[in-house]
Amino acid sequence: MAHQIGVIPGDGTGPEVTVEALKCLEAASAKFGFKYETTEFDFGGDRYKRTGETLPDEALDDLRGFRAILLGAIGHPDVKPGILEKGILLKARFALDQYINLRPVKLYPNVDCPLKDKTPDDIDFVVVRENTEGLYAGAGGYLKQGTPDEIAVQESINTRKGVERCLRYAFELTRKRDKEKTLTLCGKTNVLTFAFDMWERAFHEIGDAEFPDIKRDYAHVDATVMWMVKNPEWFDVIVTDNMFGDIITDLGAMVQGGMGVAAGGNINPEGVSMFEPIGGSAPKYTGQNVINPIACISACQMMLDTLGEAEAAAAVEKAIIDVVGTKLKSMSAGRMGYSTTEVGDLVAEAIAS
Ligand code: IPM
Ligand code: MN
Repeated sequence: MAHQIGVIPGDGTGPEVTVEALKCLEAASAKFGFKYETTEFDFGGDRYKRTGETLPDEALDDLRGFRAILLGAIGHPDVKPGILEKGILLKARFALDQYINLRPVKLYPNVDCPLKDKTPDDIDFVVVRENTEGLYAGAGGYLKQGTPDEIAVQESINTRKGVERCLRYAFELTRKRDKEKTLTLCGKTNVLTFAFDMWERAFHEIGDAEFPDIKRDYAHVDATVMWMVKNPEWFDVIVTDNMFGDIITDLGAMVQGGMGVAAGGNINPEGVSMFEPIGGSAPKYTGQNVINPIACISACQMMLDTLGEAEAAAAVEKAIIDVVGTKLKSMSAGRMGYSTTEVGDLVAEAIAS
């Protein structure tokens, strides 16, 4: 049966990088013999400006019919910040219950790393970010809005079930990875004494009962970012809440060589998952054929893994490493030594060979 894949190229450079990822998907399909069908959706800033629609409820029903979704980028310079992010990206994550945001932080050979003396041996960890709760749940409100006595409350929602499913996913992933089998809980138990107390109790209860083979570690979020810079080699898998995960994975992206390489998956292990380069729509590079498509190709690699095409996924990663390691001058837009299209061609050729 053909894998059914929804494609949302989105805004800015999203469409340009998506085309290159699909080129690599095609090369992988030709080589490994799996079948797939893509259906494209035009959600994004342009559609919103035309019709006022972000992600209509009927569209969500359509999206539920796919095994996976590949997303280019969301964000438009003429649309007020928050509308597209909340209306498309966050809506899809919540409605499709993509409760894991999976962000590998891996430095490939020959990629410039801003950390002095750190090599690919030192930087290879994964962040498991809870993706449907916390401060992102939208709980809160105003009192006396617009008056001098105004009060704004934004609450972090942490459910035992939501925390447990996220922790179990992280433990399982740690077990599967070929590393030190250490899972680090990143929290703030010294200040957020309700939410992270529950996280910590669940972490140790689940660890003791179900994952005695996995080493457990804990770091406050402020210490986590310090270690990510100073001793990234200490990390194997980090699990954390939605807001902390958002923040630390941007640092992760920089540590692995920038937004040109960083990819992520919004994962519902029992449902529809959505994969994206995490760099955004980069309006200033739009339409110039200079943006780095590697992050989107990596997102496609993660998608192949989720679709059960492990061999194809491994071949895509090998091709990325090959092209990045031997051809590209830089990971930054406009400085790769090749155009967006050429980088896509190079990776697709490496997959085929
Ligand atoms: C991300 C982004 C989103 C988030 C924004 C665009 C809503 O920063 O995917 O990390 O905060 O989750
Ligand atoms: Mn973010």
